[in-house]
Amino acid sequence: MAVSIKSEREIQLMRESCKILAKVHEELGKAIKPGITTKDIDIMAEKLIRSYDCIPNFLNYNGYPASVCVSVNEEVVHGIPTTQRILMEGDIVSLDCGCIYKGYHSDAARTYAVGNVSREVQQLMNVTKQAFFEGIKMAKAGNHLYDISNAIDDYVTPFGYGIVKDLVGHGIGTSLHEDPQIPNFRQKRKGILLQPGMTLAIEPMINMGTWEVEWLDDDWTVVSRDGLPSAHYENTILITDGEPEILTLL
Ligand code: MF3
Ligand code: CO
Repeated sequence: MAVSIKSEREIQLMRESCKILAKVHEELGKAIKPGITTKDIDIMAEKLIRSYDCIPNFLNYNGYPASVCVSVNEEVVHGIPTTQRILMEGDIVSLDCGCIYKGYHSDAARTYAVGNVSREVQQLMNVTKQAFFEGIKMAKAGNHLYDISNAIDDYVTPFGYGIVKDLVGHGIGTSLHEDPQIPNFRQKRKGILLQPGMTLAIEPMINMGTWEVEWLDDDWTVVSRDGLPSAHYENTILITDGEPEILTLL
């Protein structure tokens, strides 16, 4: 499949979609505290997204039943919000959310501490976020796609963490998932040449222990195989002639 190059008009719409999503994430982040349920977060996310005249792109995507993926502790991604899951002090929670504005998709994820968490878990979150920033340093026209993957792996692996391989980043635009796929681990090939106008969702998913994951019986929730915590950090970015633009930050 060809990787789409966005026109100046499309880039402007991507910027707007992504800016709205950044605001949604900011609001959701403020709501994270012990005692709220993962369903509370979903209700808030859907209201916020619609308040900006956007559509939640995750809702009904391949049958996914919510507007935000809420993944707690050993849940890696795609946790389904429920009134039965109450956030507790010491948990970590990943919120993965996206919206559609005038036909253009945005996608971003953040991992938050619920109250105080252990130093080990805080480090996992910090490294996962920094992994994104290490990857994006390579996201420049003239570099190759897997320069991003290799930079993430080179940064994360010395910590002894497991890099999730079953799920990857992706191109994004008029669809949530476009080509190319963007692995977060070392690749043997170079991958496509990066070009201005490409919009990419870069999203390291990092496990404290093994990289191996399993799917729960709900067929959505991905968990670490050893039950150790996992973190996720994602932004939609734009490749330019110079430094990349991170579209889903305020
Ligand atoms: N945000 C996810 C991704 O980065 C997509 C979520 S799939 C959904 O690719 F079904 F939950 F929407
Ligand atoms: Co994504």
